[in-house]
Amino acid sequence: MTAILEGVDDRPFIPTEYVVRLARTPWEQAGYHALRRDVFCTEQQVFADDDRDAIDAVAIPIIAACCMAGMPDRVVGAVRIHEAEPGVWRGSRLAVHEGHRKLGRIGAELIRMAVSTAHGFGATQFLAQVQEQNVLFFRRLHWKSLGTITLHGLPHHDMQANLARYPAHGQDQTWLLRPQPRNRQVA
Ligand SMILES: CC(C)(COP(=O)(O)OP(=O)(O)OC[C@H]1O[C@@H](n2cnc3c(N)ncnc32)[C@H](O)[C@@H]1OP(=O)(O)O)[C@@H](O)C(=O)NCCC(=O)NCCS
Repeated sequence: MTAILEGVDDRPFIPTEYVVRLARTPWEQAGYHALRRDVFCTEQQVFADDDRDAIDAVAIPIIAACCMAGMPDRVVGAVRIHEAEPGVWRGSRLAVHEGHRKLGRIGAELIRMAVSTAHGFGATQFLAQVQEQNVLFFRRLHWKSLGTITLHGLPHHDMQANLARYPAHGQDQTWLLRPQPRNRQVA
């Protein structure tokens, strides 16, 4: 057995398959709130113990979950959308688990699901308040800055998605396959 494994990297398991979908079940919603707490309370310390607010009562939660054997296993991404005024939709609380960032375009797919879903519900504008360090990320995804603001004591940009790049859809879920690492060794 040792001989068979010789030369094979000793590295943690990294999932290759993710599902991005509207969070409907209790475990999806629990994972969605737990991830938001991890990122916005523990990691970024934007909020003390809980980042929930009045928008949660009306928002549609969206999650990304990594899959094991084709089944959703753990919530590793989150975002929420809501209609702030007729036709004007907003996205907020975008978060990807630290260990899954810049891996499989999970953040980009959450944004695509968020904006295209709102577009499908009739959005004529889609806006978000984006932390400064993520402005370039959003620009590359066809968003433009409408100006700077300070939120929770941190610099943000008001940003708007180019809806022409986010066709309306009514899909409940999409699947993502993470590209394989280039140095993967095959036994
Ligand atoms: C911002 C965040 C959601 C991005 O998620 P992610 O899953 O790492 O992003 P993706 O893998 O989809 O990134 C897509 C591309 O953008 C790049 N990218 C990711 N974050 C970026 C950033 N902040 N600035 C510039 N480029 C970025 C990735 O490298 C990738 O590039 P590639 O297509 O050339 O490979 C994630 O870093 C996060 O959760 N951060 C903490 C919470 C936070 O800041 N939330 C947003 C509040 S506005």
